[in-house]
Amino acid sequence: MASDAARAVGVDIGGTGIKAGIVDLERGELISDRVKVATPEGAHPPDVLAAVTEVLSTLGVADDQSVPLGVAFPAIVKNGRTLSAANVSDDWIDFEAEKFFEDGLGRDIHFANDADVAGVAEVRYGAAKDQAGLTILTTLGTGIGSALLYNGVLVPNSELGHVQRARHGKDAEAYAAYSAMERHELTWEQWAKRLQWYYGHIEFLFSPDLFVVGGGVSKHADKFLHLLELKTPIVPAVHRNNAGIIGAAALAGRPTA
Ligand code: BGC
Repeated sequence: MASDAARAVGVDIGGTGIKAGIVDLERGELISDRVKVATPEGAHPPDVLAAVTEVLSTLGVADDQSVPLGVAFPAIVKNGRTLSAANVSDDWIDFEAEKFFEDGLGRDIHFANDADVAGVAEVRYGAAKDQAGLTILTTLGTGIGSALLYNGVLVPNSELGHVQRARHGKDAEAYAAYSAMERHELTWEQWAKRLQWYYGHIEFLFSPDLFVVGGGVSKHADKFLHLLELKTPIVPAVHRNNAGIIGAAALAGRPTA
């Protein structure tokens, strides 16, 4: 097992589940079980805090201040404040979320957007390692999250799940997230058509060098990635749905690249 200095805890708060684990920061791998609870109905701050406390207790680190703790959240995070709330309670809009968690947990945390931390995990330990130019990581889950990484450096809070579908006036994530596939009981082929529109549009806007696809559905990448026709290479996140936990921990252990 790695020494304490090379370990950190990551908590990945999502619209549907809250996941956590202890991470070896040298290898970028989980060295504990992956603990998961459902995101509380409505995702109000006190309930989310209670759920985070629960996963930390299950991991046995609730009272251990010696290991850095990173918490990732599905909203714009600027200077510790959450500025949006797409799949969580509106209480998080313009809310001192980092301080709220630090007060509630009685310890320091490193707090960031969930897709951004997944991007950091893939740059440090995964599919975007040593990738030159622009990598765009997207998480396909309850919503669509995005991380922009230029020559390995994160440009935070890109929020590309909220690009608008012209003529429909709706967010891309309402149409193309994995939750849309589930909600409309789409086949992989039907969903891939929506993803084709989405990634084609993002490709046109940014001309990236690499797309990385994260989120829970990335473990089924073989079912849909080959159906997409893009100029840009598109690969699954090496750390699949653990990228958020690993990246949250990695940023807590070493905040800058
Ligand atoms: C939120 C993003 C988040 C993404 C994935 C979106 O609805 O606006 O901040 O990264 O969902 O959870």
